[in-house]
Amino acid sequence: MRVATLLLAALAAQSLAEPMIYLKEEFADGGKQQSMRFRQKAKGPGREGYTGEVHRRDAWEKRWIESKHRSDYGKFILHAGKFYGDSEKDKGIQTSQDAKFYARSIRFEEFNNEGQTLVIQFTVKHEQNIDCGGGYIKLFPANLNQEDMSGNSPYYIMFGPDICGPETKKVHVIFSYKGENHLIKKDIRCKDDEYTHLYTLIVHFNNTYEVKIDNEKVEFGSLEDDWDLLPPKTIKDPNAEKPEDWDDREKINDPDDVKPKDWDKPESIPDPDAKKPTDWDDEMDGEWEPPMIQNPEYKGEWKAHQINNPNFKGNWVHPEIDNPEYKPDSNICQYDNIGILGLDLWQVKSGTIFDNFLITNDAKYAEEYGNQTWGITKIAEKKMKQLQEKEMKAQKEEKAEIEEEGKEEKEGDMEMDTHKYEL
Ligand SMILES: *[C@@H]1O[C@H](CO)[C@@H](O)[C@H](O)[C@H]1NC(C)=O
Ligand SMILES: *[C@@H]1O[C@H](CO)[C@@H](O)[C@H](O)[C@H]1NC(C)=O
Repeated sequence: MRVATLLLAALAAQSLAEPMIYLKEEFADGGKQQSMRFRQKAKGPGREGYTGEVHRRDAWEKRWIESKHRSDYGKFILHAGKFYGDSEKDKGIQTSQDAKFYARSIRFEEFNNEGQTLVIQFTVKHEQNIDCGGGYIKLFPANLNQEDMSGNSPYYIMFGPDICGPETKKVHVIFSYKGENHLIKKDIRCKDDEYTHLYTLIVHFNNTYEVKIDNEKVEFGSLEDDWDLLPPKTIKDPNAEKPEDWDDREKINDPDDVKPKDWDKPESIPDPDAKKPTDWDDEMDGEWEPPMIQNPEYKGEWKAHQINNPNFKGNWVHPEIDNPEYKPDSNICQYDNIGILGLDLWQVKSGTIFDNFLITNDAKYAEEYGNQTWGITKIAEKKMKQLQEKEMKAQKEEKAEIEEEGKEEKEGDMEMDTHKYEL
């Protein structure tokens, strides 16, 4: 009996500790291969000569609804990119057309993050060496009309990297609070290289947060301090005023120091040593004037000697009072019906790959999942890229060598030609 109770208690504790996974998207159910297979079948016996492409939407396309808010959204394709750690596992959705807006979103069972940790995590790879474009996600309420998602759709959280030129290279963390969007006041730099990076936002229910990049903490703090979500706790006392006789001058002119009577002298004077040239013709050359020189007696602007102000009272500090508008809120970033994750972006140079989306209530699990996805393929990805760069360099050198040889041969031929002439 006791054993059974203990066992039950243990089971209950275990199930409590089980992470809740609201969304996990790795695009593991593939894309093109599926349609290729379908095409082969279509070409099978009895259907010889069939050449038309069989259109079959990839599985992910059914999950990621494209917005129809605009008619010219760029196309996401399922792709592992030019280099990768694993040709299958690294497949994610890639922006494929330059200078386009992108808008797709995925729905999951709605939940409420009250009293729980909220973790949002995904990988971003700007393999195109991005110049300007978003790499962030938006978390929406479940009542969003996905087919009409746009920049105007109200969201709960926006999180992820944003790059535009050399100036903007930041990780956005925007929270909606009472219908208004609030940007983080801290500057978090994002990665701007061509490799895959893991971005994680953790919001704890005690109103603290963490941002991690590649499973390393890059920023953390309190929601109240790092966003202007709530009105300030204290304000300047509107009834306090700086007294009129408040002297906040630390130094003053020495009253005993007076300007000497002979101080003011012109800055430049006619050169006393200059002589009118003997061949000067007043009629032809005009009236002769000696050149001006710096006056050696010129002392510049007179300034009184500075002394400590005996009446100095220090800088006046406006007294603060408790802000009557301030009310603490223990549920700053608690949202009722989280239900959709969207990519609503603008990209100038396309090629960004998004993958390994995870929304959970367990930061430890997210870290582990990051290790098992990004953590496993990142080394091989880097190796492949470096190998490609090495090959490209070798090819370039080879091409240059061939060109060089070609030139020499031509010169040799020309020499032979001249010989022929001589013969
Ligand atoms: C908030 O909660 C997190 C997760 O439980 C914990 O690590 C952190 O120390 C807490 N912070 C404060 C200020 O209580
Ligand atoms: C993730 O990987 C890092 C580096 O290998 C390791 O230190 C950390 O413990 C791992 N985390 C989890 C939850 O497995």
